[in-house]
Amino acid sequence: MKDWTKVATLNDIPPLGSRVVHTTHGEIALFRTSEGEVFALRDKCPHKGGPLSQGIVFGKKVACPLHGWNINLEDGNAVAPDVGCARHYPVKMEGETVYLSLTEDRGQRTEHHEDRR
Ligand code: FES
Repeated sequence: MKDWTKVATLNDIPPLGSRVVHTTHGEIALFRTSEGEVFALRDKCPHKGGPLSQGIVFGKKVACPLHGWNINLEDGNAVAPDVGCARHYPVKMEGETVYLSLTEDRGQRTEHHEDRR
């Protein structure tokens, strides 16, 4: 069962932008797409740890500001040919309120892929 925490309202996150929330899991970036969907990833690029929150959101991806890797917002996976995964966290919306769950371990295993290059 997920433990949902209220972390923001939709208006706190600029369209095609992000907002960083500080959690017990470190800094997590909330991304908002042009469709008003919100996704959460650890604010650390799987390449060399770049701040994904400062990247450019397009579609359901974010381009890392450091070297331009494209990261899927839905699962944190880098778009081929790049390989790696930023930890992904479940998000739910209730009206304009954004909730984040830190209890799911999905993606933890993939952190071992960080800094592969
Ligand atoms: S640190 Fe993100 S692409 Fe290099």
